[in-house]
This record gives sequence, C-alpha cells and structure tokens, in this order.
Amino acid sequence: MKLTRIVVAAVAALLTCAASAQEPIKVGAVLEVTGPFASLARQIENGIRLYMARNGDTVAGRKVELIIKDSQGAQPDVAKRLVTELVTRDKVDFIVGFALTPNAMAVAPVVTEAKVPTIIMNAATSAIVSKSPYLARVSMTLPQVTMPIAQWAAKNDIKRVYSLVADYGPGLDAEATFKKYFTAAGGELVGEVRTPLKNPDFGPFIQRIKDAKPQAVFIFLPAGEQAVAFMKGYRERGLAEAGIRIIGPGDVVEDDVLEAIGDSALGAVTTHQYSAAHDSKLNREYVKAYTEMFKIRPNFMSVGGYDGMAVVYAVAKKLNGKIDGDKAMEVIKGMKIDSPRGPIQIDAVTRDVVQTVYVRKVEKKDGHLWNIEFDKFDNVRDPGT
Ligand code: PHB
Repeated sequence: MKLTRIVVAAVAALLTCAASAQEPIKVGAVLEVTGPFASLARQIENGIRLYMARNGDTVAGRKVELIIKDSQGAQPDVAKRLVTELVTRDKVDFIVGFALTPNAMAVAPVVTEAKVPTIIMNAATSAIVSKSPYLARVSMTLPQVTMPIAQWAAKNDIKRVYSLVADYGPGLDAEATFKKYFTAAGGELVGEVRTPLKNPDFGPFIQRIKDAKPQAVFIFLPAGEQAVAFMKGYRERGLAEAGIRIIGPGDVVEDDVLEAIGDSALGAVTTHQYSAAHDSKLNREYVKAYTEMFKIRPNFMSVGGYDGMAVVYAVAKKLNGKIDGDKAMEVIKGMKIDSPRGPIQIDAVTRDVVQTVYVRKVEKKDGHLWNIEFDKFDNVRDPGT
C-alpha cells in the first residue's frame, strides 16, 4: 500500500516535470536594439545574457526562452505594439527591458490588462512604476540618484550651478529634484536649459553655460552618445579651464563611455547606483565575467539587465515554475537581491528599487578612467519630484 502510494506520487511528479519541461518560461524583452540608443540596449541585453550564462537557462525545471523585440529607439507606439504581440501571440510569462522612459510608460496599460509581471531594467522617470500594479523596477529613479548630488554639492562649497537636462521625463525629474534639494541647502541655480531628446546640438548651450560662469554644470543626459557629445563640447569650449565642474547623476560619465570621453571627464563628481569600479567580490567577478564575454566594460544598465533576470529566476523558483501574474507580483514585493552594485530591495508598496547611492569622482587608475566611489547614501528610496 505504502509502496504503491510512493510509486503513484513519483509517477505524478515525473509527469508534472515532463509537462513543464516541454513548456519554456517565456521572457519577452523589449529593447532599443537599433537606432541612437542601441548602446544602452546592448548593455541591458548583455546583462540578461550574462545572468543566464552564469545561472543556467533552466529554472524550476523549465527552460527559459528569451524573446527580444526591437523598439528601434524612443518609439512608444512601437513598444506598445511589441508588448501586445508578446502577450497575445507569444504568451510570455514576463516582460522585461526598457532603456527609455517613453517606451516603458506606453506599455503600462497593456501589461495591466494582460496581468503580466514586467521588470523595468533601466527607464528611470519616477512615475513609471505607479502606472501599473504589474510593473517593478530594479534600476533607479532620477530623483533617487539626483537628491544625493544636490546635497553633496551644496555641502562642498558649490553654490552657483547651471542646469542642463534632456527635455523628457528623466531630465525633468532630475531638474526638479536638483533644484528642490540644492536651493533648500542654500545653492543658487544661475541658469537652466532643456535639450531635445532627438539630435541635440550642445554647442550653443555649452557656450551660454560658459558665459554664465557657474561653479559647476549639473547635467542629466541619457547614457551613451549624448553624454559623449556633451563632454566633447565641454572640452572644446574650455569649460574645465574656466573652472566649471561637472556634477549630476552618473549617466553622463557612465562606464560604457568614460574612456571615449577621455581626460576631460577627470574630476567629475556624480552620484549613482553603480560603478564598474565598485569594490566588492561580487562586482569584481561580475566585471571579469562580463568583460570576458562581451569585450567591453559593463555599465549600470547591464546591471539592470542582470538583476532583472535575477528577479525573474527568483520568482520562477518561488512559484515552482508556475507563473501567475498576481502571485509573481506578490513575490517581487519586498524581494532582496545581492547585486554587483551592493544589496538592493524592491519596495513592498511602491515596487520601486531601494538602494545605496554612491558619490564618485572620475579618476585615472592604471591608465584608465573610473568612477571611484568615496562616499555613499544608504537605503535611498525614490523621493518623488
Ligand atoms: C530613461 O529614458 O528613463 C533614461 C535613459 C537613459 C538614462 C537614464 C534614464 O541614462
């Protein structure tokens, strides 16, 4: 009798295993694979692939199938269509990705309707996650990484600042947050400018900044090409020689572009959640594995991709491979992850990331430029704008 029961149980277990082994866990990634933001998407995709390479492409007995869709830049309508296809045709269990805010914003109603857990791996405008109960974010928010630099600058004798931000969600969040905390701490904004997201020409703005003679320029520009273009103008128009420093969230001197910017980045002080120079065993291993696999330096977006996949795997394990949208979100709320950046947590109420924000300075070590962390703000939540 006992033996029969055991045999029946074993056969049932085998059948469940076999059934689920045939059905992969489908993860749809919407990324800006081509177009002007391709380098951002590449870092996120690399992070996803590295996580899968290091942790196996099977979790809770099911294979993980990654389906990548290209939104071709800041194209909310395309992102929305791709997510609709992923949920209706491919019947994905998770949606991940999104370097850019407009794309992430556009898909919120679709994932709400479909009840598909969706992990934002970069897009960093504060309001995004509040747009759907099926959204969670592992990256950062602009207010979260801007508040610390506003306070640091005011405390470190920077009193007159000119602000330059990209004219869309994250830029407006950065501008509002900087203004609020910097002026509250006694600082003065001597000028403000917003630059277009598409094809900005920084030259005239940089000249205006130089003429205003601030102590520093506060910058938020999306990581990648724009950061390089701005820093080129900063060098060519001699702002460093005029004593105008660079401060801001870390996007403008992120690891992927730092060496391309070159020595004009030296001395820039920024606050951000990740530096490839972060001094921990986990990060040293991460940087080594990433560099070996992709032959470039990882930046913060790669870590968003990597940690986002850690969330997917943790949910799959906890639910024994049976993914249900509502149950998945319950598992994600309050989840803690040991990230290459240090420990992070997904807030149980807001579904947004809570993390340490580091103060870093661009320095040269062994002939290479790095963001060297020298101070930190622990347990920073999105303060909103
Ligand atoms: C965004 O669109 O939310 C975004 C893009 C690039 C960044 C940060 C935020 O570096």
